[in-house]
Amino acid sequence: MRRQIVAGNWKMNLRFSEAEELLNEIAEGVEEITSKNVELIVCPPFTYLEMAMDFAGEGAFSIGTQNVNEKDFGAYTGEISAPMLKSMEIEYCIVGHSERRKYYGETDETVFRKVEALQKSDLTPIVCIGETLEEREANNHFQVIKKQLENYLFTLQPLDFSGIIFAYEPVWAIGTGKTATPNQAQEIHAYIRGLIQEKFGKEIARKQVILYGGSCNATNAKELFAQADIDGGLIGGASLNAPDFIKIANSFAK
Ligand code: PGA
Repeated sequence: MRRQIVAGNWKMNLRFSEAEELLNEIAEGVEEITSKNVELIVCPPFTYLEMAMDFAGEGAFSIGTQNVNEKDFGAYTGEISAPMLKSMEIEYCIVGHSERRKYYGETDETVFRKVEALQKSDLTPIVCIGETLEEREANNHFQVIKKQLENYLFTLQPLDFSGIIFAYEPVWAIGTGKTATPNQAQEIHAYIRGLIQEKFGKEIARKQVILYGGSCNATNAKELFAQADIDGGLIGGASLNAPDFIKIANSFAK
């Protein structure tokens, strides 16, 4: 059985006291998660990391960040590196989110460098891939996904590649309320797993965790997570509401 993961991406939201309240509610809600197999990850803004680590306590949930710099240390004003995160015992980091690709010029190469930096410091990258609306409408979505994987990430050693958590996030579904249908999502997840199998073999493909992201919420998570190749979700908006976030974590079939 593959790992089942629900990760919350808070993006640039919440003031300190609101973040504290949400963390408190999540910490209390974790007890309501019925399956022992589900891993919960919270990715708050950097400013709330230390507080989040306190609430996460002895592993009730894990903490990730939404970005990292590819360098280790040095004169890079305003940046935060993987060794810094590691020194705080942060475990995960989202890389290549479409908002970072769109607004901050991240490319497949930047994503690759960040993955390398994270793995060097023993953090787990959550790598986002996915097509825009134009790319889907032009029927280019398979090619786009293939390129995002093949260009750089497929040059990783099999062991490093297998350490990545992927999130398929169709850009047209992020924050729009327009979710991919379970069939649409499953089709791409199966395609991604197929590409991984061709490149790295059956064993790695079978174990690779692929999350779905894009308007996944407490209502539609169950049907999405029931798909054969969907191993959980990367949740934006709905992760800012603790009861919804916990309900999503309870959306896996037993
Ligand atoms: P959303 O965001 O759930 O608000 O659509 C998902 C994401 O951007 O990771």
